[in-house]
Amino acid sequence: MSKTISIAIDGPAGAGKSTIARRIAGELGFYYVDTGAIYRTVAYFMDLLGVSPKDTDGVERYIDELTVGIEYDEDGLQHMIMNGMDVTGDIRTQDISQKASLISAQPVVREVLLDMQREVARQHNVVMDGRDIATVVLPEAQVKIFLTASAEVRAKRRTDELIAKGQKADFNKILQEIQQRDYQDTHRPIAPLKMARDSVKVDTSEMTIDQVVQTIRNIVTEKTGR
Ligand code: DC
Repeated sequence: MSKTISIAIDGPAGAGKSTIARRIAGELGFYYVDTGAIYRTVAYFMDLLGVSPKDTDGVERYIDELTVGIEYDEDGLQHMIMNGMDVTGDIRTQDISQKASLISAQPVVREVLLDMQREVARQHNVVMDGRDIATVVLPEAQVKIFLTASAEVRAKRRTDELIAKGQKADFNKILQEIQQRDYQDTHRPIAPLKMARDSVKVDTSEMTIDQVVQTIRNIVTEKTGR
């Protein structure tokens, strides 16, 4: 099998990783792998069982009972399958965001998911987004991007997104949740969120989505010829 191409996009919650990564993957004809959704699926599964994301013994005891599947629909949208059940919509709540952040600090969870993520990238050209893709999961990735924006900008975008969907949104509460997740994700002992030495930092605070996509496409072309 010829060697596959991997594009790693890391960054904090709400930096626009999934929107950007999905667009880039679509343009290149690569698989888009949203690794946060995998952690969310684990968090959702444990939550249904009543296991706290901080309960190391409980998480270790039940993790083997979970089978996580990733499927793609015709729009390239990633679906998460938990023991045969599509939970794509169920994992997108604030509660599961927090629990995913906490459960992702459990060593057994990171260990199980590491092999799974590497296997997808071994088989396919991927744009993979997460927190530790360039540093831990795919240190050999040909392209490494660290996508970021100020916490205020990220909270504002999230607030606008919820309001556009007709939902209630409190900017200050969202900002606080984002700051809490940033803290948890950057301070856990294993594979914390940090920029790899050879990643290119793209601060999207003052950029439009199109500008970010173009910037990253230029980097991809420079590094891979694609
Ligand atoms: O990207 P997201 O918000 O869907 O991710 C949810 C949580 O999962 C995030 O707060 C930390 C964890 N995560 C991780 O630890 N490593 C990754 N590669 C992706 C996500």
